[in-house]
Amino acid sequence: MVDVLLGLQWGDEGKGARTLDLIMRDDYPVTVRYNGGPNAGHSLDFGNGKTIAVHVTPSAATLGGIISLMGNDMVVDPYGFYTEARDILRILGVDITNNSFLSREAGIISPYQRLFDFIEESIAFEKIGTTGKGIAATYGGYRERKIVRACDVVDKDNFRIANQHMIQRMQTYAKNFDIPKILEGKNFDLEAEMVKYYHAIEWMHQNIKIVDMNKKVQDLLRHRKTSKFLAEGAQGVLLDINHGDYPYVTSSNTCAFGVFNGLGIGHKQFGKLYGVTKPYNTKVGGGEFICEMSTDRELLFQRDGNEKGASTGRPRMCGYPDMVVLRHAITIHRGFGPMHIIVSKADIYPSELLDKPMLAVVAHKHRDGSISKELRLPLKDIVGVVTKEIAPWQAKYDLRKHNENDCKLFDNFLNFVYEELSDLPKNSFVIDIVGTGPQIGQYYEQPKR
Ligand code: IMP
Repeated sequence: MVDVLLGLQWGDEGKGARTLDLIMRDDYPVTVRYNGGPNAGHSLDFGNGKTIAVHVTPSAATLGGIISLMGNDMVVDPYGFYTEARDILRILGVDITNNSFLSREAGIISPYQRLFDFIEESIAFEKIGTTGKGIAATYGGYRERKIVRACDVVDKDNFRIANQHMIQRMQTYAKNFDIPKILEGKNFDLEAEMVKYYHAIEWMHQNIKIVDMNKKVQDLLRHRKTSKFLAEGAQGVLLDINHGDYPYVTSSNTCAFGVFNGLGIGHKQFGKLYGVTKPYNTKVGGGEFICEMSTDRELLFQRDGNEKGASTGRPRMCGYPDMVVLRHAITIHRGFGPMHIIVSKADIYPSELLDKPMLAVVAHKHRDGSISKELRLPLKDIVGVVTKEIAPWQAKYDLRKHNENDCKLFDNFLNFVYEELSDLPKNSFVIDIVGTGPQIGQYYEQPKR
């Protein structure tokens, strides 16, 4: 069975550490990424000063000894992949090339696709605020049948031809723009980047097992010892290309629906669905962020939650808990059975705000005057929010020590969530785990209700 863990917000929910917790707790022999690429950054804190952010490799591959799959709907930047593998080896002593398999169907990001991000952002009427990693051009080029895919890397002649097609296509497009002006002040030299790209393609050719993923997955599932997978989603529900706040989304399916295509599994092979959410919200990039906090609070949450992008270093906007967004993330997945919620970063609550009530969004106001507890996209048509006052979900003592009283205090927040979502059909969701720190193992389990 394939269990899936995904983000329920705008990404950056702290999925990395919680993935490792599940892998260790439930002994998954296989770990998977099925969507996205280096736009994701899963920060992992192993204690003893050992931290790393992985962008392509499934988080749990860093533990070593676990089979790690990168699925059909992923896009991979060869040079980023190469440096990531090198860093994992240097910092953690784990050679991920031993046990990793990349789908033949995965898209390859070249520096030309990254150039496209710069061009698009320079001409966009409404900026998406991309991560600058060439994601849209790679997924777009895939649909236009004009990119290099991982299978081309296996055979040098195929690579040469596919790469030529891709470059020709991108150069024709780029001719319409004043590239030196667009790149002014940016640390991006196309020629130098292409040299690194070719070097990394050669590295992939020699070191990475590029496979028929659907077959690999079915072979592994057939054997009892390798039949338990944990698939780790990248980004979050609101960034899904189809089900998110289009156009302020990424270019892949971040919801659980993406797992079928990303791995080539059928519905009978789908196991448990885990969704990770922070008690508060964050977002980077363009588009509406209807639950945004007042600036003074936002700065404090940014500080305490270390809310800056793992891939880009950009500060994340911080927002109040939003029950409409959470309800949406649960209900959109209603076909999968109960959503097992993991609340991450429960330990984050600025001490300056401990004696003030907190706000939570419970409904959205729409342009037509209606008020709704259900999310209606696009978010730009929402003109306001209805809030409720809630108690701070943290106290002056340290939740990371798993003190029972601290956990009880956080229970008040969980009670509020259960109460606000009590109109959802029975068994729509259950809160399973509360994450109490960035390190692996910093969590406690919620008793069944
Ligand atoms: P892209 O995926 O780089 O094309 O970016 C499209 C949108 O998704 C932008 O608003 C990004 O900020 C956002 N985005 C993409 N990946 C992540 C992520 O891992 N965390 C948070 N936001 C992301």
